[in-house]
Amino acid sequence: MILLDGKVAAEAVKEKLKAQVAELTAKGHRTPKLAAILVGNNGASETYVASKVKNCAETGFESLLIRLDENVPESTLLQTIEQLNNDESVDGILVQLPLPKHISEQKVIATIHPEKDVDGFHPINAGKLVQGLPTFIPATPYGILLLLEHYHVQTKGKHAVIVGRSNIVGRPMSILLSSNIPMGNCTVTIAHSHTQNLTDICLQADILVAALGKPEFVTANMVKQGAIVIDVGITRVEDATAKKGFRIKGDVAFNEVAPKTAAITPVPGGVGLMTIAGLLSNTLQAYLNNKKA
Ligand SMILES: NC(=O)c1ccc[n+]([C@@H]2O[C@H](COP(=O)([O-])OP(=O)(O)OC[C@H]3O[C@@H](n4cnc5c(N)ncnc54)[C@H](OP(=O)(O)O)[C@@H]3O)[C@@H](O)[C@H]2O)c1
Repeated sequence: MILLDGKVAAEAVKEKLKAQVAELTAKGHRTPKLAAILVGNNGASETYVASKVKNCAETGFESLLIRLDENVPESTLLQTIEQLNNDESVDGILVQLPLPKHISEQKVIATIHPEKDVDGFHPINAGKLVQGLPTFIPATPYGILLLLEHYHVQTKGKHAVIVGRSNIVGRPMSILLSSNIPMGNCTVTIAHSHTQNLTDICLQADILVAALGKPEFVTANMVKQGAIVIDVGITRVEDATAKKGFRIKGDVAFNEVAPKTAAITPVPGGVGLMTIAGLLSNTLQAYLNNKKA
């Protein structure tokens, strides 16, 4: 069994990006800049945003963190996005999800200029993805492709089963793995909460992507011998014996599933780190697309 180590693969991607940024700045160009907006103080969101800011610094990117109060009016958030849209020094904008209930995520995503939408959630970018046009690939599926590429996983002709159909993970993952691209050309089945005989479907998977947000849902009896398992899930599970009072669990029961697999991602230390690598790759692409860079 090969451990698909997100730390190792993300470092490799970041080293490449860092070298590109150093070359650009040595030629007198400005540094790429990512603006992140955090609304409220949800613990997990705080951690994700802090990690994104830290990774920007490590890779030579500039970052700007805008914090807004939990009760901020939706109109203020939209105005803040518009300001960033019009700020020529900002290449990429991300609004950390989830947002408080009084704010429409759909409106927020649609307000980010598609050319700065480094999370790849804007309907224009999602449409381009479906049509196989150049676009920003949502960071998590992009990170998974980078991980598969790093470990030279052969995807062509394989049957990929994706559990979860969200707009940010499952659905774009299904489009990418079924596309005619180097890390694609799979035959794809996408499963969701209404899928019947899920165990039988998962047992057919050469590549199984678990993205449903249910800790340790995928058990050994659902996995074919020699499968490649990608665990996207991140759930905080209360644990009084843990320092922080919780542990991070994936969607796969790692200890029982890993021995059956050819390769598997750990949680933590897998897809989460690759998501940041995907985000930084998109930010550099946004910068390069920006003619005034
Ligand atoms: N590693 C990372 O960087 C990263 C990034 C994003 C998300 N995540 C994690 O990935 C997980 C999924 O995130 P998400 O945003 O995609 O979640 P989401 O929007 O809640 O979507 C969950 C999907 O799973 C399906 N599902 C739920 N229960 C199921 C079941 N029993 N059987 C089959 N399908 C089921 C749902 O089906 P329906 O559509 O029918 O409801 C839905 O399509 C979460 O743990 C999240 O924290 C990790």
